[in-house]
Amino acid sequence: MFGNIYGLDLGTYEIKVYDKNKNTIWKEKNTVAVKNKKEIFSVGDAAYDMYEKAPLHIEIVFPMKEGVISRFYDMQYLLQNLLKKERHFVSGSKYVIAVPTDVTEVEKKAFYDLVIHSTARAKEVRIVERSIADAIGLGLDIQKSPGIFIVNFGGETTELSVLASGGMVLNRILKIGGNTLNQAIVNREKTKNEFLIGKLTAETLRKKFGIIGDEKDSLTVSGRDLVSGIPTQRKVLAPLVRNAMKDNLENCIREIRVLLERTPPEVLRSIQRNGIYLTGGLSNLKGISEYIGERIGLAVNGTEEPEFCAVRGLKKIIQSKELKQLTYLMSDENYRWLN
Ligand SMILES: Nc1ncnc2c1ncn2[C@@H]1O[C@H](COP(=O)(O)OP(=O)(O)OP(=O)(O)O)[C@@H](O)[C@H]1O
Ligand SMILES: [Mg+2]
Repeated sequence: MFGNIYGLDLGTYEIKVYDKNKNTIWKEKNTVAVKNKKEIFSVGDAAYDMYEKAPLHIEIVFPMKEGVISRFYDMQYLLQNLLKKERHFVSGSKYVIAVPTDVTEVEKKAFYDLVIHSTARAKEVRIVERSIADAIGLGLDIQKSPGIFIVNFGGETTELSVLASGGMVLNRILKIGGNTLNQAIVNREKTKNEFLIGKLTAETLRKKFGIIGDEKDSLTVSGRDLVSGIPTQRKVLAPLVRNAMKDNLENCIREIRVLLERTPPEVLRSIQRNGIYLTGGLSNLKGISEYIGERIGLAVNGTEEPEFCAVRGLKKIIQSKELKQLTYLMSDENYRWLN
């Protein structure tokens, strides 16, 4: 039987997969529902739908934390079952995996182990830096470009990268993403109005209001009145939600400035000419390009369906012999020093 080639962009919030044989890209929530502490109840989107609603004997587990795999076996189970669900799990396939740059070797190795030492029995594993996959997904000529600045806003991370002439110049991963913003909104509503809302409610508010918009926007949501202890519905105002987000985004903006300051002058000139690029699901947040552009004084470029940008890059890499050179082959040999 002929194996397949899969491109994987494993995110804290969602897993994105490119399937070469079927020539499709799909995504699923990176979530597992565990029953009675040991039995798997459901995986992916079905498990995420139960978050904050599941009965007590079902625990909703997120196998990744801040961009790296924190629950290895749950992650392995999830991946295999999602691939099976789509009925195109072929054992002995090849994989190209996009990994963050600014993580430890042990954390990187976990991405490799996920497919090599499992029933997936991968035949070959290639690794590519995620921001390189992003740049290719953006349609940029990374070999020729003298300077590219990419900000990947994800579920729990923001990865900042400066690329030039086909290689990484600077890279930094921040532990800030959509989940961080949700938590900040929950905390703000709790301290200001003594009203406790769920994280999914915070996510709904965030998506509805965006970062810039009418001051009078509001949405009535369910939560718990912390004074009376009674579940109720209340109006949440947009400025509270936006201010809670801005405090977190301010840290990202500060780090973008720091990276720009450290960028070599030649590379910086190209970035100033072309502007910076936003990828990752959180860059769907309404008004984020304008907000960041104004704060850093550079043009900001977005892209369609930014959450798929890196996996679109993986697709191009898998389809092109030339781009394949941007990946590197992984084997147990590479990690002998770790054992
Ligand atoms: N329309 C939207 N408005 C606001 N936020 C959005 C929108 N669509 C997606 N998001 C947010 O994007 C985030 C997920 O982005 P993405 O899929 O790039 O993350 P990830 O790759 O799973 O995480 P990470 O890269 O941090 O490990 C979530 O927090 C989600 O709420
Ligand atoms: Mg991601």
